[in-house]
Amino acid sequence: MSRALQRLFLGNCRRWTQSSSRTHLQSQTFAQKLQHQRNLAAAAGKDPTKGKGPISWKSLAVIGVMGAGGLGFMMYVKSEKDEALLKERKRQLGKAAIGGRWDLVDAEGQIRKSEEFLGKWLLIYFGFTHCPDICPDELEKMALVVDEVEKSPQTPAVQPIFITVDPERDSKEVVGKYVKEFSPKLLGLTGTVDQIRKVCKAFRVYFSAGPRDEDNDYIVDHTIIMYLVNPDGEFVDYYGQSRDKDQCVASILVNIAKWNSLNKKGWFS
Ligand code: NI
Repeated sequence: MSRALQRLFLGNCRRWTQSSSRTHLQSQTFAQKLQHQRNLAAAAGKDPTKGKGPISWKSLAVIGVMGAGGLGFMMYVKSEKDEALLKERKRQLGKAAIGGRWDLVDAEGQIRKSEEFLGKWLLIYFGFTHCPDICPDELEKMALVVDEVEKSPQTPAVQPIFITVDPERDSKEVVGKYVKEFSPKLLGLTGTVDQIRKVCKAFRVYFSAGPRDEDNDYIVDHTIIMYLVNPDGEFVDYYGQSRDKDQCVASILVNIAKWNSLNKKGWFS
């Protein structure tokens, strides 16, 4: 029995002895019970009152387990952090993997290459001129977005581009006529099936022509996204159908400001 327990037990006994024998008897019974428990524990090879010092093997083991737990938790936090970093890196790589060089044809039949647009901000939309509703809506929005972005002072021009995903029907003449309906700034591009396939693959644009009706008309299912390309020819952001004009404008202005601050000419350069 530990000294503290002895003190407590004997102290109580003494008090109880003074006040009531019945309680004393009870406490004696308790003492007997405790002794019995100790005997049982001793027979089992362990004394419940032993090893209760400030540091016992048991407490060391508990500290060890807690320490391992803490280390485990720290490792868990670290792996979470690593995972987040990896995700961010993958996102950056994903961004870098979107876009790239392309060769297409404009309404005048001129070959237009991505390289000639270096130094300019581009907003590129993929669609087809026979699209009944979505493409016209998105192109209308794109024209408004470009006008709005160019309105704010110190903002460079943004070149809006429409690229067809239906080169079979969208000849250079058809595309040329179509883009004029939305904005004089809008550049319409088409190309051979291979050229279109290549640019769509670069921008991860999905397109699939549906079944033809009796008039040989068909709908082309396609990705509805506007791509923002910076003056380095790199894809920087995209805007889906759910983004309204103001959201697109705000994001483009932020992207332009970011790019400007990263490419700011130093005092001596
Ligand atoms: Ni469409």
